[in-house]
Amino acid sequence: MKIQEHTIQESYSNALKRKKSSSESPCCSSQTQSQSCCPPSTQSEVKEPVSFGCIYLRPILNDYLKQGMTVIDLGSGAGHDLMIAAELVGPNGKAIGVDFTDDMIKEAQMNAEKNNLSNVTLVKANIKDIPLPNNSADVVISNCVINLALDKTQVFNEVFRLLKPGGIMIDADVIASKPLSREIRENPNLWCSCVGGALTIAEYKEILNDIGFTNIHVKLGEKEDVQFDAPELAVKSGIIFATKPDE
Ligand SMILES: C[S@@+](CC[C@H](N)C(=O)[O-])C[C@H]1O[C@@H](n2cnc3c(N)ncnc32)[C@H](O)[C@@H]1O
Repeated sequence: MKIQEHTIQESYSNALKRKKSSSESPCCSSQTQSQSCCPPSTQSEVKEPVSFGCIYLRPILNDYLKQGMTVIDLGSGAGHDLMIAAELVGPNGKAIGVDFTDDMIKEAQMNAEKNNLSNVTLVKANIKDIPLPNNSADVVISNCVINLALDKTQVFNEVFRLLKPGGIMIDADVIASKPLSREIRENPNLWCSCVGGALTIAEYKEILNDIGFTNIHVKLGEKEDVQFDAPELAVKSGIIFATKPDE
């Protein structure tokens, strides 16, 4: 494997700078994205920060997040989904963003302050080893991040550890329709564009099942909501749901 974590950090630090200084449309990778991913307008008070995600998650978060919950967002970036989560869980809940890129942590912190969201906490850490307690989250969310992880089993083990029994993982991710070639997997640009590290549904399910998750299911993006779709590379976005069983 030729990909190194500092390459991913630099890539996202630069992507943030580019997005902030241009009118380039947000979302995971402008190189590979074939559809517009401008989010629909909402009634929300929250000004949604720039997104680097694969799927517009607000409709799903509306369904799953309730007042008072604790939500952890893995690879929270500039805080797009984190701000939505903070709004939905309300002042008695907590929205904790984890990211390993300094510029993203600073940007998300600034966005929380701009939105007066005092229930947001940012943690600078690698998602393979998160300094947060066991059984502490009702929901763990992630949007276009776990495909970037070099060891996905380690990350999903962390998700399992962090979730309370009965807690749910909602992972918007890039999914491969067939195992990707070594050439694609070892191309640093494709890895950092969320393509090279994509697994197939069967691979995701096998890892999650081995860890002990239940109710594992995948919702592939529909035509109207797919935000990341690169058929020439055999990848598209989808949402992987999994539950930590009740004890
Ligand atoms: C494609 S962006 C997605 C950002 C955000 N989820 C969104 O939807 O806008 C990937 C983010 O994950 C972070 N990231 C990637 N690998 C990570 C890792 N191993 N540990 C922590 N953060 C990571 C990057 O710094 C970047 O902010």
